[in-house]
Amino acid sequence: MKGSVTVAATRPYEVCVEPALDLGQAVSGALEPSTAVVLTDSNVGPLYASSVVEALEEVGWALTEVVTVPAGEGSKSLSVYEGVVRRLAAAGLSRGGTLFALGGGVVGDLGGFVASSYMRGINFVQLPTSLLAMVDSSVGGKVGLDLPEGKNLIGAFLQPHLVAAKLDWLDTLPPREVSHGLAEVVKMGLLTGSEFSDDLKYLTDARTGDKGALQTLILHSVRAKAAVVAEDEKESGLRAILNYGHTVAHGLETAAGYDLPHGEAVAAGMLAAAHLSKELLGTDLLATHEDLLDAAGLPLRVPAVDVESALKAMGRDKKRRSSDRAHTYRFVLLKDVGRPERDVPVGVEEARRAIGAVLGP
Ligand SMILES: NC(=O)c1ccc[n+]([C@@H]2O[C@H](COP(=O)([O-])OP(=O)(O)OC[C@H]3O[C@@H](n4cnc5c(N)ncnc54)[C@H](O)[C@@H]3O)[C@@H](O)[C@H]2O)c1
Ligand SMILES: [Zn+2]
Repeated sequence: MKGSVTVAATRPYEVCVEPALDLGQAVSGALEPSTAVVLTDSNVGPLYASSVVEALEEVGWALTEVVTVPAGEGSKSLSVYEGVVRRLAAAGLSRGGTLFALGGGVVGDLGGFVASSYMRGINFVQLPTSLLAMVDSSVGGKVGLDLPEGKNLIGAFLQPHLVAAKLDWLDTLPPREVSHGLAEVVKMGLLTGSEFSDDLKYLTDARTGDKGALQTLILHSVRAKAAVVAEDEKESGLRAILNYGHTVAHGLETAAGYDLPHGEAVAAGMLAAAHLSKELLGTDLLATHEDLLDAAGLPLRVPAVDVESALKAMGRDKKRRSSDRAHTYRFVLLKDVGRPERDVPVGVEEARRAIGAVLGP
């Protein structure tokens, strides 16, 4: 099952998605062998780092170091970043070196920020091992770190030279993490429509690990994200449609003190958006959302949070346009499946009701 998508960024790159991907071959198609460092986390490293190192060495790469950071969002921090760049410096990695990020979105975002800044930029390859990283974070070139003041407040745009996703890596991903990745697949499918939304019928198979279903849905998602990224590489407008479900999701995550998994917040955020689409655009896609999220194994409600805190946090979303008046939010809503509408003004009262509709048992 061969599968790849070309991302038409300023410097185009391939995203390869295959069950038993030949990593050496995929990498050889993108970069001349040189010196490299593999960055991974404490869950993924013990499972896959040695086979990745072996595959790279077989095609002529010299691996100077495998750097392992603790698993979890906490590694997208300045202190972990400092530790990683100092390891690269101590290993003598030069300007022509390459960083391979083997892991989920945390390792990808951290690794990309390291690669964008170490010696003003070295080569970067994403080896995504979580479903979320395969369908979303490894594609598009947004890399960065969190601050105690907020998520993703430090960052850069760095398009990788290659994204190589071996589907067999997903065999060890906890089922809950699979569902979280599927939340972004549902989002992309609803935004894209046509063949992609039809193929959302494979969600249940994908959730239970069927490689054909996973490959189909991942390739659709990558293709859809790649199309948006190619139009708007630096997020000046169009790319905002990828925020579907995310305005409320950010509010819920902040109000829950980041106790709420992102995928579950996005699921609730999309349902809230569906309530708003019904109220403001006269489009009733509530049952469609519920069926898809259910098939993906996602809850349709999130535990109650303080709605006022969520509303306040939504107002502070850095993606919100600074010209907005204080009491109007801007939402991405759906006129229909495959027909997103950006910048729909939503009043505080409407937003409050939509959030209320997705809270509770
Ligand atoms: N750059 C972007 O455009 C973008 C887009 C979306 C999300 N993100 C970022 O991505 C991050 C979330 O990514 P994530 O959900 O992959 O989180 P993650 O990297 O923390 O991975 C989730 C968990 O799964 C484990 N894991 C990963 N692959 C595994 C495997 N194959 N087998 C066993 N365990 C495995 C990890 O160790 C971790 O415990 C957030 O920091 C978010 O901000 C970035
Ligand atoms: Zn998301």
